[in-house]
Amino acid sequence: MTLRLQKLAGRQIATHLSALADLRIRVFRDWPYLYEGSRDYEAHYLEVYLDCPRSLCVLAWDGERCVGASTCLPLADALPDMQQPFVEQGMDLSRIDYFGESVLLREYRGRGLGVAFFAEREAHARGLGLSLCAFCAVDRDADDPRRPAGYAGNDAFWSKRGYRQQPQLRSTFSWPDIGQSQHSDKSMTFWMRDLSEEPSA
Ligand SMILES: CC(C)(COP(=O)(O)OP(=O)(O)OC[C@H]1O[C@@H](n2cnc3c(N)ncnc32)[C@H](O)[C@@H]1OP(=O)(O)O)[C@@H](O)C(=O)NCCC(=O)NCCS
Repeated sequence: MTLRLQKLAGRQIATHLSALADLRIRVFRDWPYLYEGSRDYEAHYLEVYLDCPRSLCVLAWDGERCVGASTCLPLADALPDMQQPFVEQGMDLSRIDYFGESVLLREYRGRGLGVAFFAEREAHARGLGLSLCAFCAVDRDADDPRRPAGYAGNDAFWSKRGYRQQPQLRSTFSWPDIGQSQHSDKSMTFWMRDLSEEPSA
């Protein structure tokens, strides 16, 4: 199997917007996101990436099939809601790249694409002169009955890439849980890495 990465910026992302939206809807249906996705929500959510010439979307292709995607954009170009926790902490937004998501179809996991998504986004951040990378993860209760038995999570993967959880940087995102039509708030906690430091985990 030959897998190929494609990089798109700003309006170029529009050419594969439906593939990106489909991947997000499919992958984020699973724990811990439990996202009842819709094309309307996706169009609104992804608009900020299309409007930003400094954004990046990395797509993974198996032949003609889009099997994975990852996005980022400078935090200074992100929506105010995203910036708010950093503003409250007195941080300099102009140094930070915000990583949106990494989504990969299950059968393509464990082959290094997740590592490649980080490498491509970090290289992009460096190219823009940004020295900090940040993303956020949904907070779920450890005893949530919807948690699948044996679920491992990404904490070890992120730590190994040099990212550290930042409990002082929290936000609230809103999306409909599976089977719901109404949005509900989700607590999110950010993780960050300073690109000038080598990962040590
Ligand atoms: C997170 C995600 C993108 C990672 O992608 P991936 O391609 O599976 O990751 P990689 O193959 O690059 O490997 C990641 C690490 O996990 C390990 N790994 C991956 N699959 C594994 C498996 N089945 N068994 C054991 N280890 C595994 C790899 O060895 C690697 O370890 P390393 O850090 O020591 O090198 C993917 O799992 C995914 O889409 N998950 C669902 C969505 C999600 O949670 N996204 C993140 C938040 S937006």
